Amino acid sequence: MSQALPRRSFLSSIVYPAAVIPVAFSAPGLARALAAAAEAGPPAAGSDPLTADEAFWRAIQQAFAVDRSLVNLNNGGISPSPRPVIDALFRHWSYENELPPYTMWQVLEPQREGVRQQLARLAGVSPEEIALTRNASEALETVQLGLPLAPGDELLTTTQDYPRMITTWKQRARREGQVLRQFPLPMPAGDAARIVALFEQNLTPKTKAILVSHVIFLTGQVMPVREIVALGRRRGIPVIVDGAHSFAHLDFTLADLDCDYFGTSLHKWLTAPHGTGMLFVRRERIPGVWPLMAADEKQDADIRKFEEIGTHPAAPYLAIAEAVAFHQAIGQPRKLQRLVHLRDLWVAPLREHAKVRFHTALGPGQAGGIALFQVEGLDSAELVKRLWERHRIFTTGIRHEEFEGIRVTPNVYTTPVEIARFVDAVLAEAGPARREV
Ligand SMILES: Cc1ncc(COP(=O)(O)O)c(C=O)c1O
Repeated sequence: MSQALPRRSFLSSIVYPAAVIPVAFSAPGLARALAAAAEAGPPAAGSDPLTADEAFWRAIQQAFAVDRSLVNLNNGGISPSPRPVIDALFRHWSYENELPPYTMWQVLEPQREGVRQQLARLAGVSPEEIALTRNASEALETVQLGLPLAPGDELLTTTQDYPRMITTWKQRARREGQVLRQFPLPMPAGDAARIVALFEQNLTPKTKAILVSHVIFLTGQVMPVREIVALGRRRGIPVIVDGAHSFAHLDFTLADLDCDYFGTSLHKWLTAPHGTGMLFVRRERIPGVWPLMAADEKQDADIRKFEEIGTHPAAPYLAIAEAVAFHQAIGQPRKLQRLVHLRDLWVAPLREHAKVRFHTALGPGQAGGIALFQVEGLDSAELVKRLWERHRIFTTGIRHEEFEGIRVTPNVYTTPVEIARFVDAVLAEAGPARREV
């Protein structure tokens, strides 16, 4: 891995440190105790065996060939895939190159149907409602640009939705004359009823489409999507659900959300190959959405019309199958509980610090493995930089018009000892300031 901070970090300058600077401040014992507990092996009596069975999780951790000299706490951006997925990808890639017009087009390409079936089962819908895409952007833009709209129609979303999805609607508005309305969310945005009420208050007779993130990418906050879908349906307004951060992370099916349109990446929480995503369109809605790239009229009611993108490799799509199998071996409820457990391992000790503020409401069901925090008096960009340069810990700096902070996203391969290393590093940088009780 290069030492440079990546383009997705908000830091503008890149510094190459000569060496990792030793941690001068010794953190309170909690982080160390966590590390010791993790190293001790079997979970303590009374702890949840689902989440704290370190022998089980050790096997999961070892499936990922990550560089353990570094701690990656930005698994929200994009995730590494476990070895079985990479093996499958290489295997298919190698085979499709033996005689591409035959091995890729005739043998491997038809196998997509098996992947479609696996994803449909995972999502709790029909395979005839699932299209394979290259990412969440492609899936969501298909619907955002493909729904028929007239000049003057209003499009509604929040100021915390994903920038590319907002750009998509801004471009459509520039081209066709729609009007984009965005409203801010309360911070933290834990009150589901208030959020639904805000959506309702911002509807007008001209609102013709709503975009809502299932999980806000900035904070990890879970949105009351089912209620917003119900609100849209009562008013006859299509609701597009951005599930980039929810699929294979939260424990739900698309039937639970009752939505008509849902787009997600598969290279985030499903740990599928990079460049894979999924679009769900309810069967009866398919004829009403134009594909991004042209498809034959005969395909109007066929979900596969959204896959008419020209020549593309078969390998990444087929290796999704291995990612689904890996995900199912862990089990969705256990995966979510583990991610929340890993989150709480760092949240609990940082809460003790008087200068640490959380921008994510962390009650049951309000968030999964992602959370956003800030150390008051310490610029978040500077802290991200120090965590990387001094401690070799990779986090995501967030600078939004309304707030700033550091987004922390472990994944199933993250160890409790790595979390303890992160806690030690933040406490070292924040300085000794315990919260008064
Ligand atoms: C909420 C949200 N929507 C959409 C996207 C776009 O995903 P992709 O890069 O897979 O297209 C992201 C990516 O981080 C996201 O966080």
